[in-house]
Amino acid sequence: MTARNGAEPKPPARSQRYKVGQQQIVRGDCLRVLRRMQAGSVDVIITSPPYNIGLSYRSYPDRKEEADYLDWMLDVARALKRVLRADGSFFLNISGSSAQPWLPFELAVRLRELFVLQNHISWVKSISVGDDSFGHFKPMNSQRFLHRGHEHLFHFTLGGTVKLDRLSAGVPYKDKSNIARRGHEQDRRCRGDAWFIPYETVRDRKEKFDHPGTFPVALPEQCLLLHGRKQAKVLDPFMGTGTTLLAAQRMGCSGVGIEIDPDYVAIARQRLKEDRETRED
Ligand SMILES: C[S@@+](CC[C@H](N)C(=O)[O-])C[C@H]1O[C@@H](n2cnc3c(N)ncnc32)[C@H](O)[C@@H]1O
Repeated sequence: MTARNGAEPKPPARSQRYKVGQQQIVRGDCLRVLRRMQAGSVDVIITSPPYNIGLSYRSYPDRKEEADYLDWMLDVARALKRVLRADGSFFLNISGSSAQPWLPFELAVRLRELFVLQNHISWVKSISVGDDSFGHFKPMNSQRFLHRGHEHLFHFTLGGTVKLDRLSAGVPYKDKSNIARRGHEQDRRCRGDAWFIPYETVRDRKEKFDHPGTFPVALPEQCLLLHGRKQAKVLDPFMGTGTTLLAAQRMGCSGVGIEIDPDYVAIARQRLKEDRETRED
């Protein structure tokens, strides 16, 4: 697939800012916008950058030379490190493709000079357990490659020692006798590092906001639960349709989302407004 207009989108000469409740949306190039943000001002970064696998975004081409892409992502990561608080978390969602299986790993290794990889979470989008199947299985005709049922969620921190609220993000014990036997105070255990979060079922492309690479709102919600500190300041430098800010809004956090494409900015604003209205009813 190629970009719909084939050329790099031109960021506006001055970034445009919009506010919906506690969420701020900035239309512009994330590198430029990040430079103007205060150092150490963000608690949690949750983002999914372009994967550089040729997805069909409205304006962003998603096809740089691999070395250029990695250099660019490293520049973005440096800018993110500057704005992240010392006890903050940076959740990076990324996937490769059959043609570029190494890319997410290459990127994670490059980021090693900036961050500690505190956790590596598998975001499981579809899975078969025994003979049963859960989630959506996109048809894939191949003699060589397996169906891609998961993506990476790298959890980076500055020193590898950030405390997490594992139980808020956790699940009840299956075997309740474990609660008393192991001296636990509540019926909750850590969820682990494989998160099954299927896509919401949609009837047509419109309900996916005509965007090829969104994640479900439950993914950033889970990251915020894990962060655990109330009223966190959240950042998504590649905001797309505003899913991270939607999670922030629902969880009482304030957020900043940066997106280069004006149409996605409009969609994000609409989603946030509609969500507020629904919850105010
Ligand atoms: C994988 S998508 C993010 C999707 C988002 N997680 C969601 O759920 O909607 C990556 C986004 O980055 C945007 N983008 C590409 N280059 C950018 C840049 N330099 N600054 C800000 N946004 C950029 C693309 O337009 C695209 O919407």
